[in-house]
Amino acid sequence: MEIVEETYLIHRYWGKKLTSYHFSNRPTLKKRTFAAAPNNEKPEISPEFLPFELPFAHQGDFRSPALQIEQKNCETITRFSYQGYEIVDGAPELTDLPHARNTEEQAQTLIVYLFDEIAQIEVALYYTIFAESSVIVRSTSVKNAGSETVKVTKLLSASLDTRYDGQVSTTFYGTHQKEFQLNRQEIQHGMFKIGSSRGASSPQYPPYLALSKDANEFQGEVHAMTLIYSGNHETALELDQYNHLRLQIGLNSETFAWQLHSGETLQSPQAVLSYSDLGFNGSSQSFHQFFTDHLIHPAWKNKARPVLINSWEMTYYDVNEALIKQLIDSASELGFETVVLDDGWYSKRNSSKTSLGDWAVDGEKFPNGIKPLVEYAKEKGLGFGIWFEPEMISPNTKLIQQHPDWVMRSANYEPILGRSQLVLDLTNPDVQQFIIHTLSQAIEDFGVNYVKWDMNRHLTDPFSQRGDFPAFEYGHRYMLGLYRIIDALTSTYPEVLFENCSSGGGRLDVGMLYYFPQTWISDNTDGLDRQEIQSGASNLFPISSMTGHVSDVPNHQTNRTVPFETRAALASSTNMGYEMDIIHLNEAEKEMIRQHLQTYKAERELIMQGQFYRLLSPFEGNLCAWLFTDKAQEQAIVYVFRNRYQVFDLSLLVKIPYLDEDGMYQIVGTDQVYSGSELAHCGLALDNKKGDFAVQKITLKKMESE
Ligand code: DGJ
Repeated sequence: MEIVEETYLIHRYWGKKLTSYHFSNRPTLKKRTFAAAPNNEKPEISPEFLPFELPFAHQGDFRSPALQIEQKNCETITRFSYQGYEIVDGAPELTDLPHARNTEEQAQTLIVYLFDEIAQIEVALYYTIFAESSVIVRSTSVKNAGSETVKVTKLLSASLDTRYDGQVSTTFYGTHQKEFQLNRQEIQHGMFKIGSSRGASSPQYPPYLALSKDANEFQGEVHAMTLIYSGNHETALELDQYNHLRLQIGLNSETFAWQLHSGETLQSPQAVLSYSDLGFNGSSQSFHQFFTDHLIHPAWKNKARPVLINSWEMTYYDVNEALIKQLIDSASELGFETVVLDDGWYSKRNSSKTSLGDWAVDGEKFPNGIKPLVEYAKEKGLGFGIWFEPEMISPNTKLIQQHPDWVMRSANYEPILGRSQLVLDLTNPDVQQFIIHTLSQAIEDFGVNYVKWDMNRHLTDPFSQRGDFPAFEYGHRYMLGLYRIIDALTSTYPEVLFENCSSGGGRLDVGMLYYFPQTWISDNTDGLDRQEIQSGASNLFPISSMTGHVSDVPNHQTNRTVPFETRAALASSTNMGYEMDIIHLNEAEKEMIRQHLQTYKAERELIMQGQFYRLLSPFEGNLCAWLFTDKAQEQAIVYVFRNRYQVFDLSLLVKIPYLDEDGMYQIVGTDQVYSGSELAHCGLALDNKKGDFAVQKITLKKMESE
């Protein structure tokens, strides 16, 4: 960074580590007509083309601002000047937002202060770096040091100006059952913007953007960013008339504004910026490592997650005591570690139309309650989990009769239903307390050690009936309410494994990852679609944070039939579970599942704690290949998925880098031995077996050197 004219905080470089920096890339500036120049003597210094660390409105920079503040009479002019900086040890602990954790590793934070003397507003820009990571965590805070209330109408977490050099952008898009689809495109002049106004990070455009040039999975520079936040967000890319690029990420400025009273401070969510010159795998690696070391709760970081059986696709809402008992028996016989009772266990919940909010156990389905089942599971050495959708309320419930004012809605309009349900007003402290109490009671009374936290609709009527704050604050206040609830629950019950779910990946973001160590990333368990969904999500998320289930065929979402080995390999590439009828199986099927579970358990540590690389992209063709290897590169598992059988392909070839090139590796179960360099550069030829949706698994073991 540089301070220009003792006023402007200017961005100079973000990229590969330098040994020193002396402004070699500082561009010469030229006077241009229409370019506002505050200093008459230096007409070439114009905010129009300065690369700002924090651009704001009405200073002569006509690109997208990162901060906008409205004062009296709706005046949106501000004039911030550089004021000073400090460097402090550690990472900032945000009290009400998820944030990068300051674990054993050393972190340092640079805080740069800007001040507007007229408005008496102070802005602080935070940059935290971590000793073992290439990631930079950025955020912005605004403090009202004046006596008048102001309105913050835009507050982004990070803004970055750089030169356009032929880079392409990578983002993801998606929907329910088809999350994290790759979108790589050329950058055009103008503005490209993604985001969410759905009250959740949402699968439509998750908060991620990468800039890259001549990069692929294995090589090339990738600058990528994401946001530690789960609500409305925006990510923008602007290519201006001088071929300058501006990247921005933060709260969605169309749905967010905030009243800042005298003396108050508003803190933005944190953005995580990663630079890699090792391609998209390198970028993913730095995100994975960072989230594992600094975001996921340390207690869950290396803890083996249970192999579970979930009741949902077995019977949907039609659950009862006898059935769950049978499920426990079968689970224990086959080698599962936890049984999860999904939706349908409470107050006549026989369809999606009823009962959310009335969390009493359904006496007809479970006349003895849930506790005896949990105990029965425990006797058999199994854990027990239960499903909740705590943020929601069905229209015909006792809860809504007792507390009609708890529904998120405006006074004027009937609220819109989604999946036949309404949303609770999480900004209301009584609602927060109700949810904390309901879940605490269930955890304690039932004795469950796993909670699946679902959220099956997005927000359409962002209003609190209490009316004690302006409506434009609603979306952010909802998130602060949610974070408060899940922080309280996860701190009180650290031994309970909470799984994040929003019809799969409807709120799949690293904000939720701070509280819940794993996410059910998609309702789609199909053996073809999951290749794309898991590949896409792995650009950001470590494997330990994703769950995948083996389900029945034909698949309930796509009606496609994919062989068991392929479905098992896909689920085995995540926190693995099953979601199908395991009660009515023949002996051969039982044996197949037993074997699968045994193998997975033996490989679980490598999958969860090792390193994950994408070798072949399902977004580019008929093949998808993944590599798991431990940090010491002593063992590895490669999965090669070949979807359509093509007669032309006599054989398949997969190159396997990321092993020790000087080491020798044996393919387990064979006498084939190859050097790491041969596997990386010549590749491994595989038989192209007949039949669609096939998978091949190659297990490699490094041989002792003589
Ligand atoms: C959506 C989830 O993603 C499913 O796994 C299941 O829990 C249903 N909701 C239950 O209603």
